[in-house]
Amino acid sequence: MYLFHIKGTPRAAAMVHRHILLVTFPAQGHIKPSLQFAKQLIKMGLEVTFATSRDAHRRMTKTTGPPPPGFNFAAFSDGYDGSFKPSDIDVKHMMSEIRNRGSQTLRDIIKASADEGRPITCLVYGLFLPWAAKVAREFDIAAALLWSQPATVLDIYHYYFHDYIDINVENCKDPSWSIELPGLPLLKIHDLPSFILPSNSDEFNALQSIQEQLEILDEETSPTVLVNSFDALEPEALKAIDKYNLIGIGPLIPSAFLDGKEPSDTSFGGDLFQKSNSYAEWISSKPKSSVVYVSFGSILSLPRKQMEEIARGLLESCRPFLWVIKVKENGEEEKEEDKLSCMEELEQQGMIVPWCSQLEVLSHPSLGCFVTHCGWNSTVESLVSGVPMVAFPQWTDQGTNAKMIEDVWKRGVRVKPNEEGTVEGGELKRCIEMVMGGGDRAEELRRNAEKWKDLARDAMKDGGSSAKNLKAFVLEIGETFH
Ligand code: UDX
Repeated sequence: MYLFHIKGTPRAAAMVHRHILLVTFPAQGHIKPSLQFAKQLIKMGLEVTFATSRDAHRRMTKTTGPPPPGFNFAAFSDGYDGSFKPSDIDVKHMMSEIRNRGSQTLRDIIKASADEGRPITCLVYGLFLPWAAKVAREFDIAAALLWSQPATVLDIYHYYFHDYIDINVENCKDPSWSIELPGLPLLKIHDLPSFILPSNSDEFNALQSIQEQLEILDEETSPTVLVNSFDALEPEALKAIDKYNLIGIGPLIPSAFLDGKEPSDTSFGGDLFQKSNSYAEWISSKPKSSVVYVSFGSILSLPRKQMEEIARGLLESCRPFLWVIKVKENGEEEKEEDKLSCMEELEQQGMIVPWCSQLEVLSHPSLGCFVTHCGWNSTVESLVSGVPMVAFPQWTDQGTNAKMIEDVWKRGVRVKPNEEGTVEGGELKRCIEMVMGGGDRAEELRRNAEKWKDLARDAMKDGGSSAKNLKAFVLEIGETFH
């Protein structure tokens, strides 16, 4: 276990000292919101010890600036430590290493912090780490779950594990199947999280981990779940489960993109990938609201056939585009057959980058549309930036997020895959036109984009719902004396 303690401002003896131990699953979509949460706590005068894998820690410190005072890093091994090709990693083994070594690291930190007179006040843990709640119980420390997906998705898992949802291979084939669940919109099969569908292969044991998580919550009285959402965005879903205390504390994104008051707030952003800067000039040279931005997040790698169709759709839309295509990592070789057939035309019309500063891109005045896999962070970032979306979901929570983007918040258009599950180029072009063309639908989407942008920013302002909720949480957690 490595513990990196960066000393905060010296505190007077006998001052109230709150110290949060925050443990995060080592993936980009989890680290970014957790880190923003940590920064909020530090601004409120708390000390945060942030625990994640050694590999994630190494990558974060390589790509971002130094952490603020009051922030300590703690890192544990995931059994591979970034030195293996992704194809050589046994994901189940990695999950079990994270559980064993992570649990031990948390125990060590809790003991060491108590010995040093800065005891842990509350252990906040992210998705896929239910074992962290068990460590908190061993030491009788308060714990809270930081849920980095919408409240709606947590509600669906709750209903699923409490037998409200009966899905099988047959009803999955029935296009007229739908389900009404308390506090949620009417959901069709493709709106449900993919992990609960019979077709789910679940190499991550994700569903098992979520089940264990919900069992832990069910054993407690009114367990606290901090959600990267806000009251106006999911008013009913945040209240749908009486037994849980769901608290909207989002959008968890750097304040520089909310009120612009602290531009340096982006320097410690938790990026795991090296950003390219090559697009900045290019994007600025494009007319207002003209660029289509395409990204499928940090995990997905789409089949070659799907990539070719996206390329065709972008070319046929005849609009400038910025497309993030991640490069292979850790010595994994780029094969000739992976290369897109129409690279030359693509490079003439648009730009392809391996990674960018997504929030900077989304906030750029040249941006007109975001073609997104609907990962929750991308969804929230798009809301805050006021960019209308083409929803192109693939797995996990993304179908549910796409449902809300299209039907609840009316912020985007969802692509329709063909019978083989591929979204054809013509379909992508149709959706881009709906969002960027001059019709009534495009007008409505742009109006709603502005409305949600204001509501998202309001939630984090002083006196806004999320700011108030976070303050109340901090006041409520136990107090210890330095
Ligand atoms: C995963 C799951 O796939 C997603 O469904 C779940 O909601 C969260 O965990 P990921 O696929 O990486 O996340 O998507 P997303 O949640 O959108 O997070 C991606 C993050 O990477 C965003 O914060 C985005 O801003 C950032 N990003 C992406 C960049 O900074 N640059 C890029 O080029 C692409």
